[in-house]
Amino acid sequence: MIPQPFIQDLLARADIADIVGRHVTLKKAGINLKGLCPFHGEKSPSFTVSPTRQTYHCFGCGVHGNAIGFLMEHAGMGFTDAVRDLAQQVGMTVPEDDSTAEEREQARAAKERHATLSEVLSRAGEHWRGQLKASERAVAYLKRRGLTGEIAARFGLGYAPEGWRGLASVFPRYDDPLLAESGLVIVQGEDGEEQKRYDRFRDRIMFPIRSVQGEVIGFGGRVLDAGEPKYLNSPETPVFVKGRELYGLFEARQALRERGYALVVEGYMDVVALAQLGFPNAVATLGTACGEEHVRKLLRFTDRIVFSFDGDTAGRRAAGRALEAALPHASDTRSIAFLFLPAEHDPDSYVREQGAEAFEVCVQQAVPLSRQLLEAAREACDLTTAEGRARMLAQAKPMWSALPEGALRRQILSELARAGALEPAELEGLWLGSAAAARRASPVAPRPPSGRRSLRAATSSLDRGVWLLVQRCDLWERLDAGSHELLCEVLDPHGTFFRWLDRRFHDEGPLSPQTLLGEMLDGGEALGLATLAQRLGTLHEIAAGEHAEAELRVIADRVRLDALGRDLETLIADQPISPQAMESIRRTRAEADEIKNRLARTTLTPGT
Ligand code: UTP
Ligand code: MN
Repeated sequence: MIPQPFIQDLLARADIADIVGRHVTLKKAGINLKGLCPFHGEKSPSFTVSPTRQTYHCFGCGVHGNAIGFLMEHAGMGFTDAVRDLAQQVGMTVPEDDSTAEEREQARAAKERHATLSEVLSRAGEHWRGQLKASERAVAYLKRRGLTGEIAARFGLGYAPEGWRGLASVFPRYDDPLLAESGLVIVQGEDGEEQKRYDRFRDRIMFPIRSVQGEVIGFGGRVLDAGEPKYLNSPETPVFVKGRELYGLFEARQALRERGYALVVEGYMDVVALAQLGFPNAVATLGTACGEEHVRKLLRFTDRIVFSFDGDTAGRRAAGRALEAALPHASDTRSIAFLFLPAEHDPDSYVREQGAEAFEVCVQQAVPLSRQLLEAAREACDLTTAEGRARMLAQAKPMWSALPEGALRRQILSELARAGALEPAELEGLWLGSAAAARRASPVAPRPPSGRRSLRAATSSLDRGVWLLVQRCDLWERLDAGSHELLCEVLDPHGTFFRWLDRRFHDEGPLSPQTLLGEMLDGGEALGLATLAQRLGTLHEIAAGEHAEAELRVIADRVRLDALGRDLETLIADQPISPQAMESIRRTRAEADEIKNRLARTTLTPGT
């Protein structure tokens, strides 16, 4: 790990205008520099570099950071690589790090395993590509589905033949643990016992899933005939996190810029078929709902997203999740829309039956996010009654609150007010209470961050919490759901960490500190996490096993206390105080007192 003082020196020495200027044409604009954002397709410059603050910021897509962050984001480097690269550019030498040999070895091993995993996956993919050419049946299947050899080659489609150990011909050591770890081989039986090993993918059309950098990180495999399950997917591995990856993104990158928008569909086959039929800008989630990380990732390539859903109930549900994921990113310069196909269709079948032009019309007419939000809020509400209108507003409030500050947010407020038969100012007063009024009265007062409810807590104590969980991932399960929710909502990067851990843990159970740290450090995607992991290097000593859990609870308690404090502020600010609010205040105070008592009794002092 690189010592913090060096990083500060490095940032002081490097000139961000210079670093960014090597990749982006910058023009002077007042005290700042301006150019076309390299992280999303745009025609007028909203990307600003501030030489005084030594940061960059894009008003279009919201990317933000310093010189190291720019190199990480732009070149997809890890933190350490970016520091080395920058040091080289400004002629500094990175000092030998002060971490122990063991830690260095762990970090190196984690990195190497990423590389080897994706190497193993590539080799299997290549093998299956060859097998596709050799199988008349598989070729006939793809032809029947209307795909040309050219498109199959572009997506690297392959065929895994029948047989339990097809991969043994590719990997001489079939019991290599890497094959199991990569998910290519399934191992049955406990360690030490007699184990059975066999290929996960047999007699299936293989769709390689690639990272944005083009490395194979997993596979989807489809049966040729009727059979269950229709698609089999690689399990999650350190290189393959479903909540973060989009099928076809690597292949679509160029088209996203050219077409100016991304089409998000549900299936592998939809992506490939759409590419064949004139929509090379399609991507798909991996059999999971579209989440916030998917949206954030896509928005690095384009500022227009059209989600396409099948017209059935599953499609409606998926649209709800996508709306939720998109809300925090719906800034004024972006356009996010929802396309609903007729019930019996998916994009593949629709384009084949109705033609590309008809589909293009659907894309043009996709429902904008603002209207979709209204639709979602209105669900099961009878707007001809006061109760129905009130219910609609109650359903709308959390969605509206998730929107970023801006003109769109105001517009939507007006529309909601109209639908709810209120004046916009009335609705604003109702939702923001006197807090908003106070803010309007003194425009310099800092605005609370919008979007997810952000909770502050001493960073050092949250760092400690992160560190404990990296060491003892299993402790996550020992916390109650309320704590999970609370921790997941703290400010980034800690919030990002807890959300990420929650998902990783949920998918795979406990993971080793090496795996977690490796993934964090290597996370070109999850930028905040890399920096956080880097900082954790200074928290070497770790509480003994039995204290760790208690310490984590103390940290969670502090976060909760903080949240209660804020709730109280809001409740009290809303004058006059209604009887219900009085009751809430009483309950909030009681809960806060209980936590304070608990904290007073403990002798642990985390993060100090
Ligand atoms: P669909 O059943 O809509 O498949 O599942 P599709 O992509 O249209 O495929 P074809 O046209 O029948 O060949 C949509 C997506 O859901 C996931 C896959 O990612 C699939 O592409 N899925 C579906 C699975 O992971 N497993 C399944 O068994 C089915
Ligand atoms: Mn289909």
